[in-house]
Amino acid sequence: HIFKPLLFTVTVCDGTKNFLSTTGNSEIQYNLMKTRYNNCDIVMGNLEITMMDHTRDFSFLESIKEVTGYILFAINEFSRLPLHHLRIIRGSTLYEDQYALAVMVNYQRDGEHGLQELGLTHLTEILRGGVKIIQNKYLSYAPLVNWLDISCSFTLHIVNNIRNFKVKSLICIYGTVLVSRQVFTSVDSLTVTKTVCAPQCSGRCFGRNPSECCHVECAGGCTGPKDTDCFACRNFNNSGSCVPQCPQTVIYNRLTYRMEPNPNAKYQYGSICVTQCPKIFVVDGSSCVSNCPSNKMEVEKNGVKTCEPCKGLCPKVCHGTSWTDSNSETVDARNIESFINCTKIQGNFLNIQSWPASMSDLSVFSNLQTIQGRKLYKSYALMVVKINSLTSLGLRSLQNINDGAVYIKGNKNLCYHDTVNWTRLLGSRPQKRSNGDGPFKTFKEKHVCHPLCSSDGCWGPGPDQCVSCKKYSRGGTCVPDCMFLTGKQREFATKSGECLPCHPECKVQEGKETCTGPGANKCLACASLKDGPHCVSMCPEGVMGQEGTIFKYPDKEGNCKPCHNNCTQR
Ligand SMILES: *[C@@H]1O[C@H](CO)[C@@H](O)[C@H](O)[C@H]1NC(C)=O
Ligand SMILES: *[C@@H]1O[C@H](CO)[C@@H](O)[C@H](O)[C@H]1NC(C)=O
Ligand SMILES: *[C@@H]1O[C@H](CO)[C@@H](O)[C@H](O)[C@H]1NC(C)=O
Ligand SMILES: *[C@@H]1O[C@H](CO)[C@@H](O)[C@H](O)[C@H]1NC(C)=O
Repeated sequence: HIFKPLLFTVTVCDGTKNFLSTTGNSEIQYNLMKTRYNNCDIVMGNLEITMMDHTRDFSFLESIKEVTGYILFAINEFSRLPLHHLRIIRGSTLYEDQYALAVMVNYQRDGEHGLQELGLTHLTEILRGGVKIIQNKYLSYAPLVNWLDISCSFTLHIVNNIRNFKVKSLICIYGTVLVSRQVFTSVDSLTVTKTVCAPQCSGRCFGRNPSECCHVECAGGCTGPKDTDCFACRNFNNSGSCVPQCPQTVIYNRLTYRMEPNPNAKYQYGSICVTQCPKIFVVDGSSCVSNCPSNKMEVEKNGVKTCEPCKGLCPKVCHGTSWTDSNSETVDARNIESFINCTKIQGNFLNIQSWPASMSDLSVFSNLQTIQGRKLYKSYALMVVKINSLTSLGLRSLQNINDGAVYIKGNKNLCYHDTVNWTRLLGSRPQKRSNGDGPFKTFKEKHVCHPLCSSDGCWGPGPDQCVSCKKYSRGGTCVPDCMFLTGKQREFATKSGECLPCHPECKVQEGKETCTGPGANKCLACASLKDGPHCVSMCPEGVMGQEGTIFKYPDKEGNCKPCHNNCTQR
């Protein structure tokens, strides 16, 4: 993908993660690469160039200034690459878990072509990872100038290149230097030299004078002392200034004593701060990501796609059974796996006509909340027919059947389903469910809902199969009481009777309730300190606020008080 939003003038493109495997022929590979990297400034990921012959024109790589992952050149036949604007390899991912730059086996088997020069003339910084240069028959020169002045802990692996291979002045090597089977013709070809910068500059300067250090946020060097004079940013580029972090998404509000959304927030997009993530990306905390992590789900908040933590299981939408695909017309042992953890059956219906004899309920569907029933089977959204192994349905999460009726018939041993109020699930739509054939009556006496269930019925035996609870519930199971006054983790009850834990900053007191609600401002007493109405583990110290950074100290009573403006920060 190539993004060129108006918000920033840097073009970012996705790298690859193919290693040495390529699909399709070399022509296709080359054209894909050309589309991918044309006009690209920053490669987000790895730059991998493999198996390219000597006739290819790589001038489309000229614009690349930064690679966030690693660079791999392997099994190529060209003599040099025009990567003369590349300043920095960040090494956020490494080749073989070790190398930020790997240059391997670049020569023609039965010919005279091969890599002669690395040509990375402006590469001044590798933030993480080592360098591996092996078996490049014709490679005679690698300008390893100043590269290594920051990482200072890396592996340099130079093996089997041309006999007179030269590495010009390496600086600041504390890592492993592995130079095996490499014959150097001149004695000084691998030398460790002292940096030209004054010692206080920690390796980055624009002159030899101690006053000519780069700003600490620079990477790769600079033209002056300011954070706007950097060649590249060590952390983030915020509209041309190199900064340790982008303007945060939340800032401290003095009046409410809370961290609140910052109207001037920016998000991390690779090494750039942006006011909006590019289209196909989602906001996760303060970063742009292509997919939410597995414990979060994508929601739209004020028109912004955001990752939010799931309450319990993350929603998983599954397709039900369908009559157009004869293989998946019913749920059975073959496709049962694909229904585990589904919370919603999208579009289709659920038709269960054969079922493993060892399974006495439909607990595979225990997380299913909704059957959409947009496409019905003979007007039914749920069919459970002639399954004698079933003793209960176990559909304990089912809340909605949006369209269609329910057909439950001929399941000889099925119980409990008649205790469920189907009207609640189906609305006023006609229902059809009868178990007619089975010894239903006799079962009914033995198979009653758990005493903690309310009169709404149950989906099976046990306190976790109730439709609703008589009094309280915890994590989907009915319980006689919440931990109001006992236990290590004290609780409060919501209006609907769910037991939820008090905030960890609330103080647990004998014989007293601990909190009245979920937040740190709902404690009856604080475990450590208090900032306004909120219990906190420490007072806000150096947090961003509307009018600058905020520092507070705890007074004798443990209340956070603002430091006097005249105080200096340490
Ligand atoms: C930071 O981004 C701006 C574009 O917003 C670009 O012109 C500038 O070169 C970048 N600076 C660095 C140090 O990467
Ligand atoms: C179902 O969800 C549980 C809990 O999140 C998880 O441990 C399990 O691996 C999931 N199973 C499948 C098949 O997705
Ligand atoms: C079943 O639910 C409906 C709708 O929520 C309600 O009107 C009805 O009284 C319930 N029936 C029983 C027997 O509880
Ligand atoms: C704070 O600084 C101002 C200006 O330097 C000074 O006038 C004032 O007395 C100082 N206040 C305290 C409490 O030190």
